[in-house]
Amino acid sequence: MPGQKRWSVDRLAGFLGPLVQKGLRSVILFGIPEVNRSGKDGRGSIADDPQGPVIQAIKLLRKEFPTLYVACDVCLCEYTDHGHCGVLHPDGLINNEPSVARLAEVAVNYARAGAHCVAPSDMMDGRIKAIKLGLIEAGLAGKTTLMSYSAKFASALYGPFRDAVDSAPSFGDRRCYQLPPGARGLARRAITRDLAEGADMIMVKPTMPYLDILSEARDLAGDVPLACYQVSGEFAMIHAGAKAGVYELRRMAEESCMSARRAGATLILSYFTPEFLEWLPA
Ligand code: PBG
Ligand code: ZN
Repeated sequence: MPGQKRWSVDRLAGFLGPLVQKGLRSVILFGIPEVNRSGKDGRGSIADDPQGPVIQAIKLLRKEFPTLYVACDVCLCEYTDHGHCGVLHPDGLINNEPSVARLAEVAVNYARAGAHCVAPSDMMDGRIKAIKLGLIEAGLAGKTTLMSYSAKFASALYGPFRDAVDSAPSFGDRRCYQLPPGARGLARRAITRDLAEGADMIMVKPTMPYLDILSEARDLAGDVPLACYQVSGEFAMIHAGAKAGVYELRRMAEESCMSARRAGATLILSYFTPEFLEWLPA
């Protein structure tokens, strides 16, 4: 991940300040617990630790940068000892009910801390409804955007991210909850379901190999904003190609995001954002 770093909360403002000055308007936070696995348990208890990095960062950013829109990825895999995105049955399969309850609890706690947007990336069935109800109960549903990673595929392109956040599953893989790459129908069903459960924004992920899904999501989503996530492997791949002399970095970075816009994305999550702030006219 060329140029990408993990930031501790005390250095976050120093990193983001210059970017905000250049026009940065929104961020999405991913938490990495301080200790390797030792603080981790079966239910990801440290995900919403009030002293943990995400809640601390939300509070700091809201205070330091009043105009910045603060979104939070919501998942358990960075915080569970087994590295899966939910709570498991003894046999290692996902136990949906406690998973969804725990994800909703974490999302509500991020919202309480001041997150403008909570974005569950786990892909468990029914979590959008559970989070929405949690937000309603907490009186935060009118304040907090719920962005669903609706069509998230079990992609080969998440490797650099999992290395960076130490969230690779300790056994098995994520193919029981993320979508198989060929699953167009499942993607459509997941999008439709998440919209019905109250998602305020939906997302397709990864981006470039899934532009057809993005374009279909555009039609399914109607007036709901549509996000896409240009993931770690796409970023690494674009860099690697440029380094190998296949193309010029800037042109390819721009073309990749332009293609997502053309397919219908209204919002792009990209590791190239600091570069775009340099490259794009203000
Ligand atoms: C956690 C999560 C992942 C990504 C975002 N949230 C990893 C995964 O599902 O294994 C991937 C981000 C990237 O590759 O840039 N569920
Ligand atoms: Zn996860």
